[in-house]
Amino acid sequence: MKILVTGGMGYIGSHTCIALHKAGYTPVIYDNLSNASIKVLDQLEVITGARFDFIEGDILDKAHFKAALVENNIEAVFHFAALKAVGESTEQPLRYYQNNVSGTVAMLEVMKEVGVNRIIFSSSATVYGDPQYLPIDEKHPISATNPYGWTKVMVEQILADNCASDDNALAIALRYFNPVGAHPSGLLGESPSGIPNNLMPFIAQTAVGKREFVSVFGDDYNTPDGTGVRDYIHIMDLAEGHVAAFSAHKQDSGFLPYNLGTGQGYSVLEVIKAFSASSGVDVAYKMAPRRPGDIASNYAEASLAKEKLGWTAKLDIKAMTDDTWHWQSKYPNGLE
Ligand code: NAD
Ligand code: UFG
Repeated sequence: MKILVTGGMGYIGSHTCIALHKAGYTPVIYDNLSNASIKVLDQLEVITGARFDFIEGDILDKAHFKAALVENNIEAVFHFAALKAVGESTEQPLRYYQNNVSGTVAMLEVMKEVGVNRIIFSSSATVYGDPQYLPIDEKHPISATNPYGWTKVMVEQILADNCASDDNALAIALRYFNPVGAHPSGLLGESPSGIPNNLMPFIAQTAVGKREFVSVFGDDYNTPDGTGVRDYIHIMDLAEGHVAAFSAHKQDSGFLPYNLGTGQGYSVLEVIKAFSASSGVDVAYKMAPRRPGDIASNYAEASLAKEKLGWTAKLDIKAMTDDTWHWQSKYPNGLE
């Protein structure tokens, strides 16, 4: 069965292509390369032994997207393509709404036209806004605190409305907590351009000598050691969660949201400690003021995915830091 993977050259999409291939599906990648390297395709081939079809294209280009669906006999779409930098989204909100929201509407129009009615969407725990209780389950109220987050809220609503209007349509929204790690081969991982916003790539770049120290944003939160707590999930677990969700609901319809997390939180200091152990480098850090907009703790209630999809995260914090280090030390500058 052929699945079009928008954004399939990116961090999460590329790892999900490996999981799709392993499960017997055939991924066809559709990506405009705005935030990815063409070399990902070669790495995927070394890892899987298969050369995946790649179409360079933009989700906003309806004619091109339509041709990709029709010419490849696509039966479902895994939709990762999006802009994802929270800070940038507050500076360029229209660009984010255009790419993430208008882009998805354009895709859904084409999918309806050609009769492809299954979509798996990359959502985020950001749709829960400021947590009102922990752990966060799927019934938690939906909100957002920045334009990027609103694009996820809006697309979820659009998907739900579209499903409500079409008895045969299926949309699964996977709300990721904090994806980290890399493929265990060390051949594929995350390589953010510029200064990393996220904790794990910042620690990795510090360990490899590209940054002097990690700034720990706040040590006076109401958490066991005062630093922020998050639910980090290994990228390979996350990738397999997509396959589990699709396989479980292939014959179903409706709008189905699921958390993908481990249910377990780790503090900033715990992650630095784990990374130091994996890398053998004593990762330097300094306490710094809180980052505006950050919350103290965030972690998932992960039982719905376990019950309905038969999926749980298997890989622990050590696997996350080991595999990140393997990739970072092998490719300190990413694939470029
Ligand atoms: P990424 O930037 O590595 O991958 C996104 C890919 O989409 C890139 O390869 C980019 O070139 C492509 N793309 C962007 N706009 C496009 C367009 N208009 N047409 C075609 N291709 C386009 O990001 P990622 O971390 O792999 O994230 C994948 C998805 O998961 C995104 O939707 C993101 O919002 C979501 N998400 C990510 C995280 C995270 O921490 N990484 C957390 C929650 C949700
Ligand atoms: N942190 C530091 N130093 C850094 C970077 C981060 O101390 O250099 C801390 C943060 O304060 C936070 C924790 O590390 O306590 C994790 O921060 P990340 O930036 O890695 O992740 P966030 O939880 O802040 O953000 C992630 C995604 C967003 C998404 C959000 C909510 O990156 O896209 O989860 O789901 F919106």
